[in-house]
Amino acid sequence: MKQLSPWPYPKLIAHRGAGKLAPENTLAALRLGQHFGYSAFEFDVKLTRDRIAILLHDADLARTTNGLGRAEDWLFSDLAQLNAGGWHSKEYSGEPIPTLQNIAQYLISNGLGCNIEIKPTPGLETITGEMVAKCAQQYWASVQVKPVLSSFSYDSLAAAKTICPAMPRGFLTNELPENWLQILTDLDCASIHLSHKTLTQTTVDAIKRAGFRVCAWTVNDPKMAQDMLQWGVDSVITDCVDTIAPF
Ligand code: G3P
Ligand code: MG
Repeated sequence: MKQLSPWPYPKLIAHRGAGKLAPENTLAALRLGQHFGYSAFEFDVKLTRDRIAILLHDADLARTTNGLGRAEDWLFSDLAQLNAGGWHSKEYSGEPIPTLQNIAQYLISNGLGCNIEIKPTPGLETITGEMVAKCAQQYWASVQVKPVLSSFSYDSLAAAKTICPAMPRGFLTNELPENWLQILTDLDCASIHLSHKTLTQTTVDAIKRAGFRVCAWTVNDPKMAQDMLQWGVDSVITDCVDTIAPF
């Protein structure tokens, strides 16, 4: 029987920095989440053309920046000029797209934790997993609590495992696949990150009995967050940093 994986992360994790209150995946969002008492953050990471790891959710730049096209078609020096806050509100206009390195420096110097979601541009699953793992290994080398690397992409997690087997991994999924135990075992995951829409007490029990941790996303109802934690969910990822108080 596998021993339950270590889980040195808080019960509440802020989604994309501060949910919808600040522009997602920016330093400003992390600062706001921190202001509300959050000490761990989920964010999405992908690569630029010159293979710099940056925070961005979509493959395309249009929704969250004033740029166009796919992030992976541009050099970081081009993307660094973009406004990643103006789409959200005037207050955040001029907020840049951060690199993973920028964010690592901020988190580490403030004693904050994180869940790095490896969000590859389609076709770049393996290289993205490799680069994110290499960066995380380097940036968090002297920090005891490492980030948990999660992904919907099996190939990204497999690549991360090859680069840095000791860095915790979480398999992200909308619903529990039939072969979940095989996937978690093959990828040597610490956790599974399941959509709250398909999560049940029975599912949580089965996963925990098998020795893996459970993260639920994206839980924006305070009562549901409480219930899930009572079921044994290890961390709840939420947008509602203002209405769900960290505990
Ligand atoms: O990591 C949980 C959640 O962020 C996964 O979905 O689309 O918000 O990145 P998405
Ligand atoms: Mg995400």
